[in-house]
Amino acid sequence: MVSDSIKSNIKSLVRESADIVEVINEYVTLKKAGTRFVGLCPFHSEKTPSFSVNPQGQFFYCFGCGESGDVFSFIMKYHHMEFPEALKTLADKYQIALPEKDMSQADKKRLQEREALYTVNEAAVDLYQRCLAGGEGAAAARKYLEQRGVPDAFVEKFRLGFAPSAESVGWTYQTDTLRRRSLSHKVIVKAGLAVEKDRGGFYDRFRSRIMFPLLDMTGRVVAFGGRIIGEGKPKYMNSPESLVFEKNRLLFGLYQHKEAIRKARTALVVEGNFDLLLLAVHGIDNTVAPLGTSLTKHHVKTLRGYCREVVLLFDADAAGLKAAMRSIPFFLAEQLECRIAVLPQGQDPDSLVREEGRSGIIKYVEAARPLAEFFFDTLVERHGLTLSGKGRIIQELKPVLEEAADVSQKALMVAHFSEKLGLDPGQFISGKTKERTVVQTVSAKGGLLDLPRQERQLIEFAILYPEYLKQLQEAGMGKVVKGDISQRIVVLLQRLQEEGSHSPEQLLTLLVEGEERQYVAELLMEGGSAGNEMNNEIVQGMLHELVRWLKTTSDQEEGLRLQEQIKEAEQKGDMGLLMELLQKKMIAEKKRTGY
Ligand code: UTP
Ligand code: MN
Repeated sequence: MVSDSIKSNIKSLVRESADIVEVINEYVTLKKAGTRFVGLCPFHSEKTPSFSVNPQGQFFYCFGCGESGDVFSFIMKYHHMEFPEALKTLADKYQIALPEKDMSQADKKRLQEREALYTVNEAAVDLYQRCLAGGEGAAAARKYLEQRGVPDAFVEKFRLGFAPSAESVGWTYQTDTLRRRSLSHKVIVKAGLAVEKDRGGFYDRFRSRIMFPLLDMTGRVVAFGGRIIGEGKPKYMNSPESLVFEKNRLLFGLYQHKEAIRKARTALVVEGNFDLLLLAVHGIDNTVAPLGTSLTKHHVKTLRGYCREVVLLFDADAAGLKAAMRSIPFFLAEQLECRIAVLPQGQDPDSLVREEGRSGIIKYVEAARPLAEFFFDTLVERHGLTLSGKGRIIQELKPVLEEAADVSQKALMVAHFSEKLGLDPGQFISGKTKERTVVQTVSAKGGLLDLPRQERQLIEFAILYPEYLKQLQEAGMGKVVKGDISQRIVVLLQRLQEEGSHSPEQLLTLLVEGEERQYVAELLMEGGSAGNEMNNEIVQGMLHELVRWLKTTSDQEEGLRLQEQIKEAEQKGDMGLLMELLQKKMIAEKKRTGY
């Protein structure tokens, strides 16, 4: 490990060498305006420049969205990198050697191995591109691409290539060629380009395929996807995982399409590589494609950094439809909107866009419905909303709940679906269905039912489990709760606590008639009885989730206040105060991100 003091020395050395204006100017066109430089903000979409870079203070700040920071935070935010990678990117650019001697032997070795993999993959792209341009089978490969409607410009943009067949060039042509370029056999195998046979010898992994280079977020080639030309199995083949390639984190097309996604604030997710290509050919370029899997939580987290909403484009009879449901908890956890567009039977985005053009796709994207709602409605259609229907719906939801990555995601799902079913979460888990019938009739305007979902869940939780009131308050409940009725309930719960009452029912004695008393009574009655059966794990999960939500929400409010102050200071030209506030903001961010 590099010691902290060495780390911070390198950090300041890089900061001094890397002029922030020069660095940012590579990504944002900057114009001088007085002592500052201004341009269009890369972190939100805008038409008039509100992004400004201050060379004296070596920081950037956006009046529009409030993003700010130093040269490291810019690189981290722009490329979605962690600090060490941002440091290395800048150090490389300014030819500052990171002190490898201070790295452990193991770290050093890993770094070298990674670099070697990038190099060999890059050489392979070059080889595949040459093979597509000319040589054995090239004409047929180009014809295939042409038939599938991919023009040369897109072949170039995506750096598509061709891996020739063994019949035409032999089983070791690629490996031999790469080795002649002084690339080590071992690395070629590690990158998955050559496969070693059990009884000695090896052969090229990809043969007779159109090759799609898969890029990481800095544009380096980390793996390949290969589509067989014509018929044959397997239809698609990917590189095996390596030090630089994790299949469930990478999204094909994200590197090429990140700007378009940012601009549209929406990412479209398609299933196949050709779906993505053909949409791009028809001018729809805010798309990504996972590599033959459904979306993982890593994918969703990554997308969260680029857009506000994700639209899944699936064909109606795809097995993918069910798999898509597994991603519901990830979207709930990231608070990222997700809608699903179901294409007509037997059509995929590729075939649809070729038949109906851009508007054919847009039509479906516009009609896309929220994923969780879609799933829920599918279940309602199948089982109906009678009590026994609800029971069966719960049975079907259970396996999806089991897919949830952890307790808190599970709790989120339970909260979401129990609300939709009008059931108490406890009943949801126990499977005993008893409806909250009174609720709809008693709740007047301005009551608990009109509160935003999260806030209502918070209040209901506090009523049912007052023993956690203190924890909720420490997480910022007082700052976050906005509704009159919820504020009043919090005050009452607190009073009860002070009086030493631990029985939730006491709350009823304090509420005046009409003051949501019936709602609370109903809640206590149902929650109380089911509460005994309510899995403690779920209660803990809900608590955890609520605390997390409270913390982010109160942090956000804190952040907004700070942003206001920063704006004011910048307008007044109070550099001293501005620096102080930006410092404060960076510290808060550091606390949040760990760097
Ligand atoms: P599909 O079978 O729907 O193929 O697989 P497609 O995208 O329509 O392929 P084309 O249009 O015939 O070329 C969807 C995705 O699933 C993965 C690939 O990523 C593919 O794009 N897949 C499919 C595999 O990983 N392996 C396979 O053998 C098949
Ligand atoms: Mn297809």
